[in-house]
Formats: sequence, C-alpha cells, structure tokens
Amino acid sequence: MRFVTMVFFVFVILVACREKTVVVSADTYYKEQHRPRFHFSPEKGWMNDPNGLVYYDSTYHLFYQHYPDSNVWGPMHWGHATSRDLIHWKHQPIALYPDSLGYIFSGSAVVDDHNTSGLQQKNAQPLVAVFTHHDMTKEKAGKIDRESQSLAYSLDNGKTWTKYSKNPVLKNKGDQDFRDPKVFFHQLTKKWIMALAVGNHLEIFSSHNLIDWKKESDFGKNEGSHGGVWECPDLFPLKTKEGTQKWVLIQNIGRGSINGGSGTQYFIGSFDGHYFKNDNPPSLVLWLDYGADNYAGVTWFGAPDNRRLFIGWMSNWDDYAQKIPTQKWRSALTVPRELGLRQSAKGIRLIQYPVKELSMLRVNKKQILNKTTEGFLVLSNEGKLKDLELEFDLSNTSAQSFGLVLSNTQKEKVVAGYDLLKKEIFIDRTQSGKNSFSDKFANRHAAPYLPEGKLKLRILIDVSSIELFVDDGALAMTDLFFPTEDYSTISLFSEHGKATVVSATWYDMLSIWNKP
Ligand code: FRU
Repeated sequence: MRFVTMVFFVFVILVACREKTVVVSADTYYKEQHRPRFHFSPEKGWMNDPNGLVYYDSTYHLFYQHYPDSNVWGPMHWGHATSRDLIHWKHQPIALYPDSLGYIFSGSAVVDDHNTSGLQQKNAQPLVAVFTHHDMTKEKAGKIDRESQSLAYSLDNGKTWTKYSKNPVLKNKGDQDFRDPKVFFHQLTKKWIMALAVGNHLEIFSSHNLIDWKKESDFGKNEGSHGGVWECPDLFPLKTKEGTQKWVLIQNIGRGSINGGSGTQYFIGSFDGHYFKNDNPPSLVLWLDYGADNYAGVTWFGAPDNRRLFIGWMSNWDDYAQKIPTQKWRSALTVPRELGLRQSAKGIRLIQYPVKELSMLRVNKKQILNKTTEGFLVLSNEGKLKDLELEFDLSNTSAQSFGLVLSNTQKEKVVAGYDLLKKEIFIDRTQSGKNSFSDKFANRHAAPYLPEGKLKLRILIDVSSIELFVDDGALAMTDLFFPTEDYSTISLFSEHGKATVVSATWYDMLSIWNKP
C-alpha cells in the first residue's frame, strides 16, 4: 500500500514538473531580451547571410549561413526555414552540413524544371543549390585555391538535400576570394547564369546544365565602391512603372560602406547573357541601404507574380556582428522587401518597401490628422512592436529637424527623422543603450535627401531594430539597437520650430513566434 502511495506521489510530481516546463517554454519562446518578434532569427546559435532563396510549390524557402553549436561564426551549415506567406516561418532541419570539401558558404538555389541537370528522378523536379565550398585545411595551410563552387539537390520539395557526387563543379584557378554564386535562368540565351564575387570584382559564368560552367566576363574592377572585398552578388531584371527594363546588380561589400563597415551597393545597367554594362559613370556609388545593419541581402528565385523579393542579414559583419549582446542566438534578418525601379531626376534608381504581406501583423490602428507639433507628442506608451506611416508637410514646417523618438525610463533613446538644415534623413543611436561591445556602434547614420514638399516615412520597430523607408521606398535605413530596458514610449518630435503632420497612422504588430 505504502509503495503504491509513493508511486502515486512520484507520478504527480513528475506530471507537475513536466507541465511546469511546458508552460515556461511556451511563455518564453522567442521572448528573450532583444529577441525580434516579427523578424526571422534562428532558434539558437549563429546566423549570417540568407542563402538559397527559392519559391517552389507554394512555399518560400529560406536557407541561411548557420553555426548551430555556437553564437559566433564557425563551421558553416545551411540552416533552413519555410513559409507560405513570407511572414511566419517554420524551422526545418539543417539542410547542408560541412563535409570533406569544406564549410558550406553562401549561395543560391533554383528550380531545374526542365531537368537540364539530369538530376531528376521519376516525377520529382530537382531543386538545385549552388554554393561555395570553403576548404579550411587549405586556408590554414595558406593555400589560395580554398574556395570552389558545388551543388546539392533535393527531390522532395526542399525537405532533404544530397550533395552532388562530382563536386566541385567550378574549380578555383587561383583567386583567394571566389564565392557566393547567385544563379538564375537567362530567358534570351536559354542558359543558366552564375554571378560570382571574386575579390574586387564580379565574374559571370554560363551553363546549359548547372554542372559545366563557362566564363563569360568580368565586371567592376574599376566601378563602384572598393573599400572591401566584394561578396554575395545578385543580378536580375526589373521594370519601372513606365515599363523601362533595366538590369540590377546587387553587390555586397565587406568594408567601407557609406555608414561604416559592411553594406550593399548596386549598379543599374544592361545584361545580354554575357556582359553586364553599367549605365552610370564608374565612380558613382549607389547604396541599397544607408543604415549600418543590412548586409549580404539577395532575392528569391521564382517568386510568384514576377515579384522581386529581397531579404538581408540585419547586422554589420565588419564592425560588430559577432559581438552584439545576445547569447542564445545571434542575428536576425530584415523584413522581406519588394524591390522596384523608379525614374528619378538623377536617373533610374532601385526602390524597396516592406512586402505587403507584413500588414497581416497589424492590430490596434491609431491615427492623427493635420496636426502641428512642437517639442514632443507621445503617440504610444505601451508595446514595443510598431508599424508607423507618417507624412509631413514641409511647406509648413519651421523646425530644424523632426521625426520619431523611441525611449524608455532609463533615458535611452533612438531618434529617426529628417534634418532640414543638413538636408538628410538620419537615425541616431548614440544613446540607444548597450554599446560597450563595440566602439563602432554608438553612432548617427545619415543619408542626403531632398524631399519635394511632403515627406513620407514608414517606420518598422521591433524589439531591437528600426527600418525606415522614405517616400514609398526611395531610400532605406536599417539599424539595430540594444536598450537595457525595452523601448515603450514612441513620440513625434520637432526641434527648433514646428512640424506639420499631415497624417500619422500607427499599429501594434503581432509576433510571428507564437507557437513553441
Ligand atoms: C558574407 C560572407 C560570404 C561567405 C559567408 C561565410 O557575409 O562572408 O562571402 O560566403 O559570409 O559565412
């Protein structure tokens, strides 16, 4: 009898403990300090570049540079997540592990729907990933030819991946930096094209089968910015709303970006299947983002309705990525953004805006119309996730600068807005909270900008990031921040004079990480 009672009590205690554990984890899932709520971040460990972005069978695949065993960079894997709506992500098992040829560096993925590779079996169309193998043994031995391009394929809609048996498919001929293949199908020449970052320039290769590659051309040794090594290119056509088609070359650059450290430049030009030709003078540098925290961004292959969808790594490789104050995981991605082209007075420019799907997270709409502000106007004293749309009338604005302030009770703040004297859009995170992890963090980022009469700002605020889009995407700035206590107060401000707010509309944002 006593034994039965004891067993009963042990059972009750076990059940209680189990329940407690479950409750705790449901309560804390994706709720650690600084953990973004509506941006993608890995469950644990290190993440850098987005990789292998491909849309197939109504599913967006997101792979990413990942080291699951530590929160700093190490042996690179491809982590994997999928989404039906671009907003809510489901973690999947790791797709690619390092092997005898090396770490799995960045690359892309395509749907080989005509089975050009011959990898198809029965009816399963192959998804083919093209990535860089980085051989650490060679690197440690000081050998130059450490990077080469390899394939992996999936015959089950991206669930599991097999490395191609004859890797690598594109061998290194003596370039230390030879990586990050971005592959797409070129309709006119009916060939696969690979854009590859090679040190200080881009190399273009072509192939009929994704396996045998032929060099077509070089681009960029003397064009654009060269403050650091070129990495993670992307090349694709886009149209202005008037119908002019141009080719856009995205070229990430490891150092020397406009507001410090790593960043993303782009070129506008033409591509005939062999050569990319820049429309602008070689010395003109165009920046995709003027913040410090948007790097290695590339676009999805095969997105529906001809949309060109972009996502970037929300950190700064060169300045502090490995030191930001998070422990369990490190790094997040930007929100997915839709790219377009706009004819401006200075020429055709890339525009970007959060994907329309993001509005599914909006709740509790609030609005003010036609209001003149001076000093501070508190919009919200609760909640830290926000999506704001602000429109200012500059013809009725006497302030020197105006915009938005995030603040907390610790007197920490992030200020974002427009400076009429300096004629620049800015984000100031000099007093944003934790910054001792890097002397390159507590700074103010600015971008020259001349509004025409009105100024529209769309601002996304997550627990540790701000993304600012000016005039429907003409300019973007992405910055991280790490307050000691989460920001809760959001106010409009105008300094040294008045600002006229045509409209301010804001929403709370739901978390995308509700299910443990
Ligand atoms: C860019 C990058 C790539 C490389 C990968 C390694 O952040 O340096 O050039 O493939 O990261 O993780």
